[in-house]
Amino acid sequence: MTRPTPSMRRAMAEAEVGDDVIFGDPTTQRLEAMIAERLGKETAAFMPSGTMTNQIALRLHCQPGDEFLCEAGCHILNMEQGAFASLSGLVGRPLQGEFGILRQDHFKDQIHADNDHLTRTRLVCIENTHNRGAGTVQPFEEVEAICEWAHDHGLITHLDGARLFNASVATGRSVEELSREFDTVSVCFSKGLGAPIGSALAGPKEAIQRAKRHRKAFGGGMRQSGIIAAAAIHALDHHIERLAIDHEHARQLGQGIQALDPLELVPDRIDTNIVIFRVDPALGTAADLTRELKARHVYVHAIAPQLVRAVTHLDVNDAQIAHTVAMLHEAVSELTGLHAA
Ligand SMILES: Cc1ncc(COP(=O)(O)O)c(C=O)c1O
Repeated sequence: MTRPTPSMRRAMAEAEVGDDVIFGDPTTQRLEAMIAERLGKETAAFMPSGTMTNQIALRLHCQPGDEFLCEAGCHILNMEQGAFASLSGLVGRPLQGEFGILRQDHFKDQIHADNDHLTRTRLVCIENTHNRGAGTVQPFEEVEAICEWAHDHGLITHLDGARLFNASVATGRSVEELSREFDTVSVCFSKGLGAPIGSALAGPKEAIQRAKRHRKAFGGGMRQSGIIAAAAIHALDHHIERLAIDHEHARQLGQGIQALDPLELVPDRIDTNIVIFRVDPALGTAADLTRELKARHVYVHAIAPQLVRAVTHLDVNDAQIAHTVAMLHEAVSELTGLHAA
C-alpha cells in the first residue's frame, strides 16, 4: 500500500545501473551485499517478490515428493497458490500453532520414517512475524530450539522473514540474531519498509548461486534492477527504526477496538503493525464493517466472514489513526442503528 517517498524516488532516479542478468547491476550487487551482511549470511539474491524468494528456497532445499513442515496459517502454505506443489512437486504439512506461533513441542514425532509409502520430511519453514497470526513475533528461544531440533534431525530450515525487520524492532534483537539459526532467510522491502518492489533470499554462497539459476527459470532475472534495488537500499537506510511508530499506531488502533463491545481483537494483544479483529455477527459481517469504513475513507480488509485485518505503515500518520478510531465508533453505531431499525 505504501508509495515511494520523494527521497526514495530520487535515489531510484539516480541509481547506477547495469544488466543484472548478464554483467551484474552495481546497485543490485550493493543491496545484495548489504542485506547478506545485515542477516549474517554469506550472500543474497535480490528478487521481485516474497513469493518468489520463498518458492525458490523450497526448490533449493527439497526434491519432488519431499515435504516441508510449517505453521497451518502461514503464507507459503496458504497464500502462494500452492506453488510448492505446482512448481516443485512438494507437499506442505501444517502444524497448528497459536496465532501463528510454533513451539518446539509442536514438532514432536513429526518427521516421517524412512518408508517408501511416505513423503520425505526435509525442511522446516517458520514465518516471523506471522501475517495471519496478526503480526505475531515468534518467541526467540522457541525458534532457536526448533532450528536446533531440525538440524539435529537432518532437516533444513528456512525463515520467511517478509516482516523480519518488524520483529527486530519489536524485540530489540538484531535481524542477524533472528536469522542466525536458519539456513536461508527471505526478507521483503516492499511491506513495512516502504519500497515499491522487492525481496531478497540470503544464505550460503553455494545455495544462493543455485537460487540465482532458479530465479532466471522462474522469470525473475531482472535487467537494470538497480532502479528498484536503490529503493530497497534507501528503505534499509531510512525506514527501519521508524517501524516503532507503526507498532505504536497499531497499539492505539487496538485500544480503540477493545473499547468497542461488538469488536474483539484476535489475539488480544498487538505485537507489531498488523491488527486483526472479529466482528460480532449480531453487528453484521466483516464485509459490512469494511464497507462502512470505506465510506469514511478508512481502508481495511475483510479476511474471513467475521474477521477484519488492518495494517499500519509509513503512509499512515497520527491523525489518520485518530480518524480511524473515530470512524470505527461511527461505523459500529451505524450498523447497530440498522439492526435496531
Ligand atoms: C509472510 C509473508 N511471506 C511472503 C509474502 C509474499 O510477498 P509478495 O507479496 O512480495 O509475493 C507475504 C505477502 O504478504 C507475506 O505476508
